[in-house]
Amino acid sequence: MTTQQTNESTIRQWDTMPRKVMEAMEPDGDFAKRHLINPVLLRMLGDVRGLRVLDAGSGQGYLSRMLATRGAHVTAVEPTDAMFTYSQEKEQALQQGVHHVQADLSRLPDLGGRYDAVLCSMVLPTIPDWKPAMRACVQALRPGGLFVFSVNHPAFEQLLATWRKHGEYRLSRYLEEYEIPLTRATDFHRPISAYLNELTALGCRLREIAEPGLEPPIAREAADTESGIESYVHLPNFLIVAAERP
Ligand SMILES: C[S@@+](CC[C@H](N)C(=O)[O-])C[C@H]1O[C@@H](n2cnc3c(N)ncnc32)[C@H](O)[C@@H]1O
Repeated sequence: MTTQQTNESTIRQWDTMPRKVMEAMEPDGDFAKRHLINPVLLRMLGDVRGLRVLDAGSGQGYLSRMLATRGAHVTAVEPTDAMFTYSQEKEQALQQGVHHVQADLSRLPDLGGRYDAVLCSMVLPTIPDWKPAMRACVQALRPGGLFVFSVNHPAFEQLLATWRKHGEYRLSRYLEEYEIPLTRATDFHRPISAYLNELTALGCRLREIAEPGLEPPIAREAADTESGIESYVHLPNFLIVAAERP
């Protein structure tokens, strides 16, 4: 893929995140996160009590706080000033013991010790130079540790927008890598094989792939306010992967 974007330029884009958008994510994310992503991430991670967990690309930090509430010792890595500062302020208010580090995952400093689990939710598709970021996540694990990551499902990335326009999903480009301009930042489309082959090249053993769908009653409840939400019942907007470091 040819792109003008660098990790620095996309981090600057993410740094424009307004505070009210961060606040709207409290306490457990937006609709898709609450109903499709979080339940799978938490199930895959299992009982995190007493475990060292790295939240890689932690954003405004809601997942770090959910994990800390469940008894994990959490380190949260986030590169932007805006979201790093917001998460630190939350930590000062809540005193959950979440340790915050401001860094680009592709140039992750030594965090001091290995982690039992690394969570990297909706982050890899935002990073132009993503392979070093995935490598850093895997290398942060102890042997036998669990790497859980989620991405927009590469086959159904623009599900809601496409469904609203056509009443079905349409996709014309899949195999090549390309940029997807979002409201504030740029995402990068890569085929599923790019993520899974890199995981394998890093020596990881795949444990599970999830393609969560929305429960029909929840879609019916949300239908009045979220047009096209029934698409989430029929097609997966997210791909969630759990793998083990040998
Ligand atoms: C879609 S948000 C997801 C945030 C959080 N994981 C969540 O699930 O709410 C993408 C996040 O990746 C972060 N990010 C972008 N480039 C990054 C990089 N090179 N290293 C680490 N994080 C990065 C952004 O700042 C942003 O917080």
